[in-house]
Amino acid sequence: MKKSPQPLSKNLHLIRWVNKMAALCKPAQIQWIDGSPAENDTLCAQLVASGTFIKLNQKKWPGCYLARSDAGDVARVEDRTFICSHSKEAAGPTNNWVNPYEMKKTLRGLFAGCMKGRTMYVLAYSMGPVGSPMSQIGVQLTDSPYVVVNMRIMARIGQKVFDLIDKDFKRVVPCVHSVGAPLKKGQQDVSWPCNPEKYIVHFPETREIWSYGSGYGGNALLGKKCFALRIASAMARDEGWMAEHMLILGVENPEGKKTYVAAAFPSACGKTNFAMLIPPPSFAKKGWKVWTVGDDIAWIKPDAKGRLRAINPEAGFFGVAPGTGNRTNPNAMKALAKNTIFTNVALTDDGGVWWEGMTDTPPAHAIDWQGRDWTPALGKETGVKAAHANSRFTAPALQCPTIDRDWENPEGVPISAFIFGGRRATTMPLVYQAFNWTSGVYTGATMGSEMTAAAAGTLGKVRRDPMAMLPFCGYNMGDYFRHWINMQKGLSETPRIFHVNWFRKDRDGNFIWPGFSENMRVLKWIVDRVRAGGRAQETPIGWVPRYRDIDWEGMDFPPAKFEELQKFDKAAWRTEVLGHEELFLDLHATLPKELMFERELLICRMG
Ligand code: GTP
Ligand code: SPV
Ligand code: MN
Repeated sequence: MKKSPQPLSKNLHLIRWVNKMAALCKPAQIQWIDGSPAENDTLCAQLVASGTFIKLNQKKWPGCYLARSDAGDVARVEDRTFICSHSKEAAGPTNNWVNPYEMKKTLRGLFAGCMKGRTMYVLAYSMGPVGSPMSQIGVQLTDSPYVVVNMRIMARIGQKVFDLIDKDFKRVVPCVHSVGAPLKKGQQDVSWPCNPEKYIVHFPETREIWSYGSGYGGNALLGKKCFALRIASAMARDEGWMAEHMLILGVENPEGKKTYVAAAFPSACGKTNFAMLIPPPSFAKKGWKVWTVGDDIAWIKPDAKGRLRAINPEAGFFGVAPGTGNRTNPNAMKALAKNTIFTNVALTDDGGVWWEGMTDTPPAHAIDWQGRDWTPALGKETGVKAAHANSRFTAPALQCPTIDRDWENPEGVPISAFIFGGRRATTMPLVYQAFNWTSGVYTGATMGSEMTAAAAGTLGKVRRDPMAMLPFCGYNMGDYFRHWINMQKGLSETPRIFHVNWFRKDRDGNFIWPGFSENMRVLKWIVDRVRAGGRAQETPIGWVPRYRDIDWEGMDFPPAKFEELQKFDKAAWRTEVLGHEELFLDLHATLPKELMFERELLICRMG
């Protein structure tokens, strides 16, 4: 091993840990990441030279790069994700559990010499604004320069974070990451090194993360799902706050009053799009605006007055590319127009990028996400997509035109409502409001959604995904429900809870609701309900808007279609409630009594 350059921190614990891990992983060299633009330029140039990055046409896509991953490393791997708490009960039946001592042994074996021939980067990062009382610090050791340049967009990184560690001796979450592809002397590297054997491992009690074998998204950018959700959810339970898979947005009404809401939708179910919603012209004309605070994760804590306040722990968007276009999400298109890293989208002949849904007319020719020639005709004939269904853009949040004035407020923004929602072709109406906090927790806890390409698995199958946290809760899901119920007890103001579904289909399989901008009509009803004055009707599942309670100006949506969209189908709900029971059977050992009673009440109301 070459001599390590000067560490950027004086913290002896940190330096000792770095040296210990280097002795295990045996990298060719160590590089402490200062986070400077010059350092980033050098790393990007190296990534271009090694073939991981393609520099895009800089006139059209300034500061942008394209990466193509290994075809076997394209999404989160939930079956290779582990919560290694001391007991299996602490992890709960919805998580993969291995005894932590056994897992440590396995990991030490895997990591021995795993960085040979590579550089080990020492990457300090802050989740949340640097120095905010709600922020947390991690240090990730990684042998992937791709991860470093992505983390630079997704989190606050570098010297300022090392300085904070030195100044405050803040507790740091150690994260070790390797693509698991050591290089022999003289061995030619591949453009996307990874290992077919993958381990995404969390130790919630000791607050540690070890990730092996993957370079993709949530498997590798450890500040995101691994820290900000799995480890943070365990911290939050211990410390009385919440770490949630939620976007945060602010709705400004014509009087200039802002209402912030947080919404939990499962992966690839519309968080980024909802967070960047542009109100339809008839609403914009009246002065309605939507502001973006975050698009994926919310850390939520009661303030001194007993009000919930939320921060977005991230600094960028790791957004789903397919379906993102000027018609659906112009804010995202502006956010990703420069300084963005694209992964697994198609390369156009003029050195740009393209994906399904970006424009109505595809380019006549492109190179697909696997580096093969692609034409629209070929796509039609074979069904081969130009971009992978889980292809992503990594874009700085600051570049979003609707970024909220308070998005980096260290105290967070006040939350007035929670929205849960999944991707459901049947059963679930466009919107309903839960009767109270506990029935709202029940609504979130029993949420279902069709599986998407964001994780390896069966596409389209409905699974229970409580609070969109099934793959992200770092402890027993029943205890997590208990934590949700308890959180309300200390509040002076209880946020209202809603459920939405943009994805109900008609008999021909078409979406009944146009979604995107038009979701503003639902959002307005929600805000009206929160700010008092919004009208609704009681049904067995909750409060729902009648046709006349929604603002339809500028939209031609017949009442009959709205009825279809909002329909409470008793037979479908029977099946639905049986699905809830299946989840409850799995969680019986820790399921809060309140939720069993809520289920009984729901059944009684369904009569
Ligand atoms: P993650 O980043 O995986 O957590 O996903 P996300 O929840 O942020 O999902 P995103 O907003 O990226 O949307 C995923 C897919 O759903 C995209 O293809 C969108 O075009 C589509 N989508 C989003 N909102 C709507 C909507 O209102 N209606 C319909 N029909 N599709 C939508
Ligand atoms: C998700 O899958 O919910 C994502 C993408 O936001 S990843 O960062 O890969 O988890
Ligand atoms: Mn997500």
